[in-house]
Amino acid sequence: MSPASAAPAENPAPQSPFQRLDVLLEGLEPGAEVIDLGVGEPRHPMPDFLMPALIEAQAGFSKYPPIKGTKAFREAAAAWLARRYPPLAELPRDELGILPLSGTREGLFYVVFSAMARRRDIEQAAILLPNPFYHTYASAAGASGAEPVFLAAGPETGFLPDLGAIGADTLARTVAFFLCSPSNPQGAVADASYLEQAIELARRHDFLLIADECYSEIYTRSPPPGALEIAARMGAGLGNVISMQSLSKRSNLPGLRAGFCAGDPVFIGDFATFRGTVAPQMPLPVQHASVAVLADEAHVEANRALYAKKFDAADRILDGKLGYYRPEGGFFLWLDVAAHGGGERAVKTLWKGCGVKLLPGRFLARDNADGTNPGADYVRAAMVQDLAITETALLRIVETLK
Ligand SMILES: Cc1ncc(COP(=O)(O)O)c(C=O)c1O
Repeated sequence: MSPASAAPAENPAPQSPFQRLDVLLEGLEPGAEVIDLGVGEPRHPMPDFLMPALIEAQAGFSKYPPIKGTKAFREAAAAWLARRYPPLAELPRDELGILPLSGTREGLFYVVFSAMARRRDIEQAAILLPNPFYHTYASAAGASGAEPVFLAAGPETGFLPDLGAIGADTLARTVAFFLCSPSNPQGAVADASYLEQAIELARRHDFLLIADECYSEIYTRSPPPGALEIAARMGAGLGNVISMQSLSKRSNLPGLRAGFCAGDPVFIGDFATFRGTVAPQMPLPVQHASVAVLADEAHVEANRALYAKKFDAADRILDGKLGYYRPEGGFFLWLDVAAHGGGERAVKTLWKGCGVKLLPGRFLARDNADGTNPGADYVRAAMVQDLAITETALLRIVETLK
């Protein structure tokens, strides 16, 4: 195994997939003008009302922002949730906790410490996460001192963890479960019955279900169900469930660093207290602009339409090739390159052959006990460039890997 592909199993803060990608491609010249489909950074236009809203509230940069957010921010987030997930409109407002986050990434990290604190009775805490996974889950679990338990999320289980396969001894010591839907990297969506089962497990074993729903607004057919709406429908409030929401993907604002978490009001209250001493507050002008962004759906619909056009192009260009399927949600392609020597080999071949930069699936997954890696046969392509560039990239991939 090359140093670039060695999974730093013992290190709680391993290199990010992108640092590993830099190492993998170091010293290799791209074979054509570079097209970067490696990082999932949206390149569609920002909402045009963002800057005016930021400027309107610029005086707020002279103040420390409140960790709990402004009332206007919390109300805008609650109103958006109620529109998107109608059962939440029925819920008394004090049963829905909301906290702003400076991007969901920091929230996904800090949240495990509060999840650990609510189950101090457990000696050998476990945190469940899918494999492959968004890298922050593993860094958070590692830093918290809990044992990360990686749940296989391959094609045989529809790219989501098999909830029925989690052992009773593991469930008994689980403090938190990261569930990503639509999932990064595979684009799988957890349906209502899957979410119901996950919530039921969380309540029975009293752990926190952390539903990472960053990609909830980018989908192919119907809006993916959300964990909070399912919890609300099940009755008994939102206990044991939180949802992570981001403006990065929904609104093409990865640089704004704006998101929020919502759900279990008791947990959110404790999380706010914990965050009060450690976490980055969201600047007041960013909160103000986020209110406007959350209130507008027109730019979100336009954004979704742009992705749909690119997936239509992928349907045409990749049909029957590289295990292509159109993801239910999110903006990634998860392509099977086993026949091309696996993910790292294919990424190097494409970089040297045609300048297209993709991410090897192995960098998004952890080795299994037997040394296999569920991402090894795959590459991830982020469909974030415009239509013409994306088409060029896909044609180059097909041509180079034929
Ligand atoms: C699954 C998932 N969760 C969370 C994030 C973090 O998003 P942000 O911090 O921009 O809100 C990302 C970013 O790529 C992601 O892919």
